[in-house]
Amino acid sequence: MPEQRVRIGLLGRGTVGGAFAELLEQRAGAVEAATGRRPELGGVLTRSGGDPGEILGSSDVIVELMGGIDPAREHVLSALRSGIPVVTANKQLLAQHGDELFEAARASGVQLRFEAAVAGVIPIIRVIQESFGVTEITKVFGIVNGTTNFVLSEMAATGAAYDDVLARAQELGYAEADPTEDVNGADAAAKMAILARLAFHTPVTLSEVGYEGIERVKPDDLAYAKELGLSLKLLGVAERRDGGLSVRVFPCFLYPRHPLAPVEGPFNAVMVQAPAITEITMSGPGAGGIETASAVLGDVVSILSGRAPVHAAREPLEIVRDISSSFYLHLEVADRPGVLARIAEVLGRNEVSVRSVVQRGLGDDARLVMVMHEGLEARFFKALEEIATLDFLRAQPRAIRVIEEEFV
Ligand SMILES: NC(=O)c1ccc[n+]([C@@H]2O[C@H](COP(=O)([O-])OP(=O)(O)OC[C@H]3O[C@@H](n4cnc5c(N)ncnc54)[C@H](OP(=O)(O)O)[C@@H]3O)[C@@H](O)[C@H]2O)c1
Repeated sequence: MPEQRVRIGLLGRGTVGGAFAELLEQRAGAVEAATGRRPELGGVLTRSGGDPGEILGSSDVIVELMGGIDPAREHVLSALRSGIPVVTANKQLLAQHGDELFEAARASGVQLRFEAAVAGVIPIIRVIQESFGVTEITKVFGIVNGTTNFVLSEMAATGAAYDDVLARAQELGYAEADPTEDVNGADAAAKMAILARLAFHTPVTLSEVGYEGIERVKPDDLAYAKELGLSLKLLGVAERRDGGLSVRVFPCFLYPRHPLAPVEGPFNAVMVQAPAITEITMSGPGAGGIETASAVLGDVVSILSGRAPVHAAREPLEIVRDISSSFYLHLEVADRPGVLARIAEVLGRNEVSVRSVVQRGLGDDARLVMVMHEGLEARFFKALEEIATLDFLRAQPRAIRVIEEEFV
């Protein structure tokens, strides 16, 4: 029987694309043994060479590893519309143009796979789409950005300032030269938009994901968190709330026995909750050329094996914005009588209830660290706005969410 060859067109040969090209050559025999078809690298597009039209015309599968929106969007759409399956690691493209891309794949009856776009090497897309394809998922959440997890872990371990740790992360290759999208939460938000779409079978775009980053976290927050037994993570959360769906990214304190609390350094971890499964947690490297390339090759194998992901049609869910959370509040105030009572009055009037308070003297000033019980975020932020105007405040108040559940 003649050997069945499959030509892989590669768009982008940088960190991931370069590693993928090497891995494809090394593992071609294994892919052939698994699928009956031997992959080989066809055309390659970079800024300095390759013709996109020619590559599309001569490829059986397109692997897009160039990143960015344009021209990646145009090339991926052309491939899908021409009936060529596509593998991509491009989270921004999927989060911003998912509807259009999924519709093009559906209309042509070809696969669009993107395991590497979320949580690096952790096979969370496959688990949600295939293993839990018909499971009623209630919550998907986790640490989906390795750069910020590294920065927060280092700040907690060393007490160093945010800017110094970020510079070290850049030196070590855990943060890019321009780390803006990582540290401001936009990268994690794109990943959560993709996970939410799949887990809840509902269109979610990046603009519907509220996000906050870690730029304002101070060594003091981490020092006091340590005293309270908490660890700080940038969390992405997509969950059913009040009949709708809430998708958000925010820095958050976790109690020590939370399964995500021990995830340190540039690692990612994702949890899925559903009544039928209780809860699972998967963790692993969040990025890296070879790790990401390995997830991409896994998608190529799935395409060659002909296994299409499950698409369970569901009613779209409304995005819910005003939800309940509990907060940690850090205040620097003048150390004089009546200050605590005044703060308690503002919180009480806004129906925010205090769970614990730690007070420290700082010469003529004092530092108050408060943890609130869970309540509507809008009420807490209203109280915070009022507190920020009080004349005895010595610095802007700092607030960070807290996950209250303790896991046994
Ligand atoms: N790096 C990671 O660890 C990681 C992890 C998960 C997902 N991803 C995703 O994987 C994708 C690739 O990331 P990467 O780190 O490998 O990027 P990269 O190192 O910057 O490589 C990008 C490649 O695409 C080519 N390219 C970019 N724009 C182009 C254009 N307009 N026309 C033609 N070629 C173009 C570049 O060409 P030149 O070689 O000529 O510059 C380069 O070969 C991105 O979507 C990224 O978000 C990366």
